[in-house]
Amino acid sequence: MLLYLHVPFCQTKCHYCSFHSYIQHNSLKEAYIKAVMVQFQNEAKHFNLAPASLSSFFIGGGTPSTLTPAQYAPLFEIISPYLHPEAEISTEANPNTANRSWIEGMIALGVNRMSFGVQSFHQDKLAFLGRNHTNDEACRAIETAASLGVNSVSIDLMYGTAMDTKTSLKKELDFAFALPISHLSAYALTLEEGTPFYNRTETLNPSEPLARWFAKAITHRGFKQYEISNFGTVFCQHNLGYWEHRRYIGLGCGAVGYDGTARLYPSQEIHTYLKKPATQRREVLSPQEIITEKIFLGLRSHIGVAMGLLTPEQQARASLLEKEKKVFFSNDRVYNCDYFLSDELALFIL
Ligand SMILES: C[S@@+](CC[C@H](N)C(=O)[O-])C[C@H]1O[C@@H](n2cnc3c(N)ncnc32)[C@H](O)[C@@H]1O
Ligand code: SF4
Repeated sequence: MLLYLHVPFCQTKCHYCSFHSYIQHNSLKEAYIKAVMVQFQNEAKHFNLAPASLSSFFIGGGTPSTLTPAQYAPLFEIISPYLHPEAEISTEANPNTANRSWIEGMIALGVNRMSFGVQSFHQDKLAFLGRNHTNDEACRAIETAASLGVNSVSIDLMYGTAMDTKTSLKKELDFAFALPISHLSAYALTLEEGTPFYNRTETLNPSEPLARWFAKAITHRGFKQYEISNFGTVFCQHNLGYWEHRRYIGLGCGAVGYDGTARLYPSQEIHTYLKKPATQRREVLSPQEIITEKIFLGLRSHIGVAMGLLTPEQQARASLLEKEKKVFFSNDRVYNCDYFLSDELALFIL
């Protein structure tokens, strides 16, 4: 079982981002954690949660580093008995708010993996994206986390922006791989509705050859690509759990849970959530929808798809792809050879 906490607070809003977060409501942070604790107690009952049964806890956002370790402490206290002793406990963090004392405090709570939203090491690209941190702050945060003993340090980088060329992306990797990281997520810029970048296609560099070159360049530096956007020597167990279609509890406004039958949506609006943290909208998935999701997620990652999930007609279409060397078969599973074609391959098999 996996646990996710959504932290819906940011200091500023980046030009491209449609993730659910508020740049006001700072005064609600303590009340928010209290509400999350109420929701957790309710979920523990709904999911019949056994002690030590959580294999991962992921704090995402928004910006988790806008809350102090002291503000998280009461939540960790009630979650701790349910965490497996070797659970992966990850937090996302922004370089300008994750200072030494924040990192130390989070480690003291049990965090053993940190993912820094670097996006770029180029100052002009950071400004273009609307980021409020500097190259120096990013390097310092990563080095501090590693030196304080965080097991796995990850960074997010964005590519596919109008500022990217082979030369500038190579420099991103020169910076990244000079730092003590074991994981990298590389996301192609997408133009999301409701953001300043929406409709501004001039902000993109949609070149597929450049995207393919970037993914290859990351693997040439020694990181294995295990999903369309994820690379590392240490893989993120929490993300692997999502792609394996495991059950997960989603805490907080803007979070999503999955109990094996239905998706669970707590209220997205913070005031409604604070009033009724245990109330959720339930969206039941049909068995066919679950299989379709498993095919999409399996082909996007190194999880693959169990042959037994496919109908005889789908297996025949998978065999056609195998003859064309687009997928390969191993131990009764179908694996993708080219993550950039994931969705096309899934649609062909379906
Ligand atoms: C949910 S954000 C939160 C992380 C953290 N607040 C930060 O900004 O670093 C996770 C990652 O999604 C990526 N992301 C968000 N919006 C995106 C977009 N429109 N296109 C591509 N990647 C995006 C960014 O790389 C970001 O680090
Ligand atoms: S990218 Fe991160 S910091 Fe920027 S608005 Fe989105 S969640 Fe907040």
